[in-house]
This record gives sequence, C-alpha cells and structure tokens, in this order.
Amino acid sequence: MKRTKVVDALKLTDFGSTVNVKGWVRTHRSSKAVDFIALNDGSTIKNIQVVVDPSKFDAEMLKQITTGSCISATGVLVESQGAGQTVEIQCESLEVYGLCGSDYPMQKKGQSFEYMRQYAHMRLRTNTFGAVMRIRHNMAMAIHTYFHEHGFFYFHSPIITASDCEGAGQMFQVTTKNLYDLKKDEDGKIKYDDDFFGKQTSLTVSGQLEGELGATALGAIYTFGPTFRAENSNTPRHLAEFWMVEPEVAFIDLTDLMDLEEDFIKYCIRWALEHCQDDLEFLNKMIDKGLIERLKGILESDFVRLPYTEGIKILQDAIAKGRKFEFPCEWGDDLASEHERYLVEEYFKKPVIMTNYPKAIKAFYMKIDDEESGFGGKSGQTVQGTDVLFPQIGEIIGGSVREESLEKLTAEINERHIPMKDMWWYLDTRKYGTCPHGGFGLGFERLILFVTGMQNIRDVIPFPRTPKTAEF
Ligand code: 4AD
Ligand code: MG
Repeated sequence: MKRTKVVDALKLTDFGSTVNVKGWVRTHRSSKAVDFIALNDGSTIKNIQVVVDPSKFDAEMLKQITTGSCISATGVLVESQGAGQTVEIQCESLEVYGLCGSDYPMQKKGQSFEYMRQYAHMRLRTNTFGAVMRIRHNMAMAIHTYFHEHGFFYFHSPIITASDCEGAGQMFQVTTKNLYDLKKDEDGKIKYDDDFFGKQTSLTVSGQLEGELGATALGAIYTFGPTFRAENSNTPRHLAEFWMVEPEVAFIDLTDLMDLEEDFIKYCIRWALEHCQDDLEFLNKMIDKGLIERLKGILESDFVRLPYTEGIKILQDAIAKGRKFEFPCEWGDDLASEHERYLVEEYFKKPVIMTNYPKAIKAFYMKIDDEESGFGGKSGQTVQGTDVLFPQIGEIIGGSVREESLEKLTAEINERHIPMKDMWWYLDTRKYGTCPHGGFGLGFERLILFVTGMQNIRDVIPFPRTPKTAEF
C-alpha cells in the first residue's frame, strides 16, 4: 500500500478509508484495552495517533515498540476522539522496520541543548530540531524566491580562494602539501609553487569580491553558500562554518542599500509567519513565549537608520546617566554587542541600521564619505558601511556601498598593506567601466536564530563547526 505522509494524512477527511503511515515513534502508551502510538515522520511537527487493540497483536512485539522505533502502520482513518488532533488510525497491521533500545540518546523529554549537541546525529529526530530544520529550509526558499522575484541572479562564488575579503586573516588554509615535510625557501618561508594551486589558498570568508564581478556584469546577483572563519570566538553567535547570503547590486546608493536590507529581511520573516505556522507555534510554546509577537513586531516597525556618530552620542549620554557597560565606547571604537543591544532593545526598541562607521574599524572596500555623503558621516574619516542590528541577535547583516574609485581604493589597499598582487583582478572592476555599487551579507544562521527563538547558533545548523568541534 502506498505510504501517506503524516502531514497529508492529518488533512484527510475520507473517514473509513485505509491508509498507511510510516515514521518514528514519539511515545507509546499502553493499557489493557488499548495502545496509543504517536508517530512522526518529519513531514510536520504534528504526530499522528495510531490506536492499537492489543488483543489483535503479539504482546511481546508491541512491548518492544518504544520511543525512537521505526514502524509502518496501516489502518482505518477515523475522526479522533482525543483533544488536539483531528484524525487517527485504527491500526490493522504493523510492521517494525527498526526497534530502538533503551540506550537511545534522545529518549527522555526535556534534555538540555548542551546534552543534545553531543548527539547532533540523533537530535534531528526531536521535535525542536525538526521544527528548526523545516524553518531553515523555508528560509532558504524565501531567500531564493525574494531575489528571483526581484531580478537578482544566483551567482556561484568559489569556496577555495587566494584572497582574504575581510582582510582579517581568519582563514582556513587549503593545501595538499605534506605538513610533516614542508619545503621552505632560503628565508624559511613555505614555498607554495608546488602546492596544488601553485599559491597559498584558503576557504573563503565571503563571496563578495567575486560577487562584485558578477554584479558589474549582470546588474544584480546574490550568492548563497558556505563561508568559513577561523576566528576563535566561542560565542552563541559565531560558527567556524556558516552560510551567508550576499546580494550585490550595480547603481545602488546608501539609501537604496538600506531599503533593500530592510525589505529583504521583512520578506523572510513574513515568509516564516506564512509558511511555518505549526513549527513557529511549537517553538513559541516550548522555547520562547515572545517569539511570534517579536516576529510580527519586526514587520510593523520601520527600522531606525542611525549614523555611528549619533549612536556613540546616545551611548555616552546613557553612560553619563549611570548606565554601565563592560567595554568603552569612544568615537572610533568598534561597538560591543552590549552597546548594540542597548540601542536596539532598550533605547529604540526596534531594529537599527547603523551607518557611516569610522573607516579604521571596517573593511578596505567600503566607500569613503566625502562632503556630499550626508547621513552624518565625516568626510574622509567614515565609510558608507551598514550593520543591521537586531534584538536578541546583534549584528545580523553587514554591508556597504563599495568604493568605486580606483585611485581611492588603491590608496586604501596600500594604507592597509594588503598584498596588491592578489587583488589585481578585483581592481579591474574599477579600472574598466567602474560603477557605483553595493551589497551586503546576511548571516543565514543568525536569521534562523531570530526566526526560531533559539539561543545558540550551534542549534540552528545540523552539524555545527566551532573551535574544537567537528564531529559528525
Ligand atoms: O559583516 P561580515 O563580516 O561582512 C562580510 O563578510 C561582507 N563581505 C558582506 C558583504 O558586504 N557582502 O559578515 C556578514 C554577516 C554578519 O553580519 C553576520 O550575520 C554573519 O555574516 N557572520 C557570522 N555568522 C556566524 N558565524 C560567524 N563567525 C560569522 N561572521 C559573520
Ligand atoms: Mg560585520
């Protein structure tokens, strides 16, 4: 008999017909007269109830069907008597695919997320991780749909690269060299000529530089792929391997860029509310009671657009009035997450797009403010960079208008001692038919954190990579 997915079976109304469902047992309650098996197949957060008359089945076999076991159940679809469900199955035949011993690590309810991380290969079968993974899929669909509908082309930037986009030197090397027998030149430097690519290469920290090549040919592109950072930050917001979405657009200015950031992120959140209702309701109940309210709140609020210099003033006023922060915040300092959260969660109580940062704390490619820039920038000292700051998360998006002048960009590269030989191809965008353009990067897992209400970024990606963790 053809299998019906639980998500579809729960919508059936032709009571009296026979259906087959397959899945993993969430709970099995038995009494003398009747057994109830709650079955889940991952297609939805909801279980279907399989009602078993124990007198019709082998008692020993029934007893072994415990939480985690995989079974196939066929029976008559009936309207449910119990509260909270619409249909159930009066079981006529049962097939066991795989039993699950009492050592099944996801057995008990209420296990901590720390505990479950040790069993990342099994935690996917729990209600919470099922919900998070379905939402993750839906957010990927939202992203592709948004950009497709807005005329952006999906552009595949390379994962192996010889350049360091963010200039932070936090890259994982890619080599086929024998690390036990590294050849060095007279100065003791490693020789890469005979390495696979003939030069030093790494996993990319961002697809932006190649994205700019795409945007200055196709007009508007987006990349969406894995990104790697060897930063040793053991925080609930950082992964060593994460996914980033990077749109890049020709002929865009700072206002257009901020409009795009706000419109895009609202679209994704609206998509979640429309397509992930059951999973969100579950998470709202079990993980974060304010979740759905917060998501709706984002759709209703206009994001604050705040120049860095003004932000610093607000923070300093707060300090003058007695607000304590762990880290200093003088003009020129990079804001710590406590500062960002103060602005977003306490002061404005809505998302903030911070702009026009001091150039020293931002990447080399950002457009330098001049007399005409506006937005509270300081000529020659600030850049047209934007960070979108979100409640609970802090920075969710980082982007900028790009410096399109070859002269200014080259000066910046020289000032920062970025090796020019690795950058020649990037500079060609400015040399040949340069154009105003800009874009941003959204940390996909940070979006998932926000949309699910989960607290730790390790719990919104199937198999997290963090310092000292690469199991599974
Ligand atoms: O602000 P970042 O470093 O910006 C860039 O990489 C630019 N090249 C993007 C662009 O303009 N095309 O990173 C962008 C976003 C951050 O705002 C954050 O959401 C996420 O990527 N992110 C991380 N997410 C998880 N773990 C990490 N270690 C992350 N580092 C950045
Ligand atoms: Mg950033």
